[in-house]
Amino acid sequence: MSLRNFWYIACAADDLRPGPKAVRLFGEHFVLWRDGSGQAAAAVDRCAHRNAPLSEGEVKGGCLACPYHGWSYDAEGRCTRVPSLADGRPIPASAKIKTLPVCEQDGYVWVCPGDRRPDHPPRRFPHCGEDGWITFRMRTLFDSDVESCLENFLDCPHTATVHRGWFRNPDPREVDAVVRRHAEGVEVEFANEPATGSLVSRLFYPKGANLKHTDRFLMPNLSRVDYEFGSRHHYIITSQATPVTERRTEVFTVITFRHGSIGPLVRWFFQPLCHHIIRQDVAILKRQGRNLRRFGGPDYAHVETDLVGLHMHTLRRRAELGEAPPEEISERTLRIRF
Ligand code: FES
Ligand SMILES: [Fe+2]
Repeated sequence: MSLRNFWYIACAADDLRPGPKAVRLFGEHFVLWRDGSGQAAAAVDRCAHRNAPLSEGEVKGGCLACPYHGWSYDAEGRCTRVPSLADGRPIPASAKIKTLPVCEQDGYVWVCPGDRRPDHPPRRFPHCGEDGWITFRMRTLFDSDVESCLENFLDCPHTATVHRGWFRNPDPREVDAVVRRHAEGVEVEFANEPATGSLVSRLFYPKGANLKHTDRFLMPNLSRVDYEFGSRHHYIITSQATPVTERRTEVFTVITFRHGSIGPLVRWFFQPLCHHIIRQDVAILKRQGRNLRRFGGPDYAHVETDLVGLHMHTLRRRAELGEAPPEEISERTLRIRF
C-alpha cells in the first residue's frame, strides 16, 4: 500500500467542463475529461503516438482527441480512431494510454494515482448539503508539502501567533487535551476551551455555551476540525490535501456549519474571515517551506503539545513503505496553553 493508493481530489466537479483539463498529482501530469455519458475519466497526459499533451487537445463524442495527429481515446484509454489510417486498417494494440480510477462525490472529481482502485469510496464531507447546514468551499494552493499543511490545520499553538487577534489570542489558562492515536489517524479533544477575546470568539461563540473542540487527522490527507456549542451551533472545517508536487499542495476545504436561525447571516462574516485566516497560513507555510529548502529539509525538535504531527508522520511513512499501521490504540491527556 503506497500513499498513491488512496483517493485524491483532482478538481471541483463544476470545473470539469466539456473540454479536457490538465491536473498534477505527485508531480505527474494527468488529464481529465467527460466521456459520452458525462462520467469523469482520467489518464496520463501523454499521447501514445508521439507523446503530445492530450490536455491540450479536445473532447469529441466523449473521446479525448490529441492535438497533434488527432488520435482519439475512450475512457478506458483505448485508441478508437487514427485519422491517417485507411479504412479497414487495424489500430495497433500498443495505441493506448494509462487511465486512472476516477469517481465523483460531494461536488469533486477524485482520482487514485496508484496501481489499483481503492476498496472504499472517498470519505464523505460531514453534513455537506444537509438540511439545516450551510456549506461553502475554499480551494487554496500552498507552497508547502502535504504534511506541513495538515499539521498546520490541526495545530493550536500557532493560532495565537499567526492568527493573533483574529482567531485566538494568547491566553494563560491551561486546557485538557485528550489525544487518541489509532491506525487510521489521530483525534484530539479539548475540554472547556476558553474564549480568548479574538474576533472569531466575539462574533461566533454563542453566549454562555460550552465549547467542545475536536481536531482530527485521518489517513492519508484529511484534517477535520469541529467547534461544537450544543446541538444548534456547530462548525466543521474539513480539508482534503492533494499533493501537486513534493513542495506544492492544493487544499480543498469544505466548511459546514449551523448557527441557529441566523446561519445565513453568519455566513457573510464567516466566509471572508476564513479566507483571511487561510491566507495567513499560506504566508507562514511559504516562509517555513523556503527555510526548509534553504537548510535542505526538516530537522525538527518536538514538544508534547505538537499533538498530531509525529503520529501523522509515522502513519504516512508506514503507508509509503507498504508497512501496516501500528495496531495499538493509545489515549493520553495532557495540559496545553494556547
Ligand atoms: S502525438 Fe498524439 S496523435 Fe500523434
Ligand atoms: Fe492557521
